Amino acid sequence: MTQSKLSGKKIVITAGPTYEKIDPVRFIGNYSSGKMGFALANVCAEQGAEVTLITGPVSQKTTHPNIKRIDVESAEAMYQAALTAFTDADAAILSAAVADFRPASPMDTKIKRESGQELTLHLLPNPDIAAALGCIKKEKQILVGFALETDDEAHHAQDKLKRKNLDFIVLNSLRDKGAGFSHDTNKITIIHKSGESVAYPLKSKQEVAADIVNQLALLLQ
Ligand code: C5P
Repeated sequence: MTQSKLSGKKIVITAGPTYEKIDPVRFIGNYSSGKMGFALANVCAEQGAEVTLITGPVSQKTTHPNIKRIDVESAEAMYQAALTAFTDADAAILSAAVADFRPASPMDTKIKRESGQELTLHLLPNPDIAAALGCIKKEKQILVGFALETDDEAHHAQDKLKRKNLDFIVLNSLRDKGAGFSHDTNKITIIHKSGESVAYPLKSKQEVAADIVNQLALLLQ
């Protein structure tokens, strides 16, 4: 990849998990490490893009001066930040593992355990950030999503690609060894809205990020 392929481009990236508050000391979350999203942010920044990285709680660090990092906790906060940042962006890469549901009424004080008593949490659906951006996307804006699947992978990924109005989707299967959350490697297939797909071998998340950004750069030319 030649340097500065993305010079002058504004790219929004979502990364990591979201935490949905139950009470002041507990949340609903997931195992996303943010590694893939941070690798994408680094590659985009190295290629000259102005990156807005909206991340849930992770232990990853950012050092590149072209990366503006926005730390959020909940899906709702990630949604608001993404809507704002996408307005004048050229592309968005949605790699966050957004919680599908949040507690309807988070408590202000710690929930006490009452011996032998069951506890039922009432959950509300969270906004789908990818689908929302897909709805407001202008003709020249490019939207990239991820699909982490366990079965009937290509079918589910294609369904998401259409439903969320994405330009391409990065599919990874939990059935592939070394792919998915906390690993340093990933094995992806990129499926374009044209139906064309490219399968890549197992690579480091840095190399995978470079492959994804290469595909994105072609669409942004
Ligand atoms: O539907 P599913 O969660 O599998 O879709 C995955 C894709 O949609 C990922 O790109 C993810 O970042 C994005 N997504 C989102 N907001 C949600 C749920 C998923 O942006 N609430």
